[in-house]
Amino acid sequence: MLQFSSRVAGTGSYLPEKRLSNLDLEKLVDTNDQWIFERTGIRARHMAAEGECTSDLALMAASRALEAAGVGAHVLDMILVATVSPDQPMPNTACVLQRKLGARNCMALDISAACTGFVYGFAIADQFIRSGTYKNILVVGAEVLHRYVNYKDRDTCILFGDGAGALVLTRAEDHERSKVYSAHLHADGHIADLFTLPAGGSAIPFSQEVLDQKLQFVKMKGREIFKHAVRTMADSCDEALNANHLTPDDVAWIIPHQANLRIIEAVAKHFGIPIAKVVVEIEDMGNTSAATVIVALDRAIRDGRIQRGQNILLTAFGAGITSGSLLMRY
Ligand code: UT7
Repeated sequence: MLQFSSRVAGTGSYLPEKRLSNLDLEKLVDTNDQWIFERTGIRARHMAAEGECTSDLALMAASRALEAAGVGAHVLDMILVATVSPDQPMPNTACVLQRKLGARNCMALDISAACTGFVYGFAIADQFIRSGTYKNILVVGAEVLHRYVNYKDRDTCILFGDGAGALVLTRAEDHERSKVYSAHLHADGHIADLFTLPAGGSAIPFSQEVLDQKLQFVKMKGREIFKHAVRTMADSCDEALNANHLTPDDVAWIIPHQANLRIIEAVAKHFGIPIAKVVVEIEDMGNTSAATVIVALDRAIRDGRIQRGQNILLTAFGAGITSGSLLMRY
């Protein structure tokens, strides 16, 4: 069977203008800048403006990715939007984005895998290109999480922010060296209750009771998630390297999900690699769920840290519990 490979043609990202600093949070909950920075590595996060929604952030990031790839939206065969904060349950945010981009002849689908959503989407797009089904796919990670966070709950409100990132994945020509080596995706629904957004679906539809009990906001068992985050990201990176007969020395950059600097440092320690080989972008953006990995990738490409020909290892972990890795030569 004919097999193709895919390559990243262009990336883009966008963070809304408004910032919420640790000092701002001190006025909302019983916390302080020193505690937040020492425990998480976060100083500030971004917040969408009133009226600005997930597809708006996605549009900004996608437009930048298309521009970097040097193609128009008309070439797209598929649009995938990884998000847990869609504009609304129906239609999906990918279709809204399709309309805003002016793309016509493509399928459009949302992916709900929380913070692993972008890695899931990237892997799915790679499969569609490998099989020869499609040539150009837009993969987006976009979130407006601050609307699902209770700013009276210090366990969660210090972590999350809004943002979006996008990449254009294209069929690689025979002479091109860039390619996706492999992706390794996992889920463990048996521990799904560690991180949930209980209401607003068919199990607990919206009601006055939901609002009274604040079930429209995320609930998280932070300490337990922390342990699973380190283990699952380290395991899926090991899996990627073993599957391709590579060692950590063969990888130029690791881009882990940006949830907590201490989680990122623990993953680096697992591989015995210096933190200097890890793309860390958490300080000014916090945890933007499905957007973190692609925003970090885009920033590192744009500021010249990541160069063509380098091996890059992406890994993420999120509610579900989902996890995964993707190894590519950029
Ligand atoms: O995308 C995936 C989603 N989530 C994650 O990745 C979250 C993973 N978990 C974490 O990042 C960390 O567990 C947190 C940042 C959420 C919490 O850090 P921690 O080091 O695990 O703190 P802890 O929950 O063990 O709490 C330590 C202390 C407690 O006080 P006592 O019992 O020792 O007196 C907490 O009450 O810190 C207190 N505390 C706070 N203090 C100031 C908890 N939250 C805060 C806060 N400000 N915001």
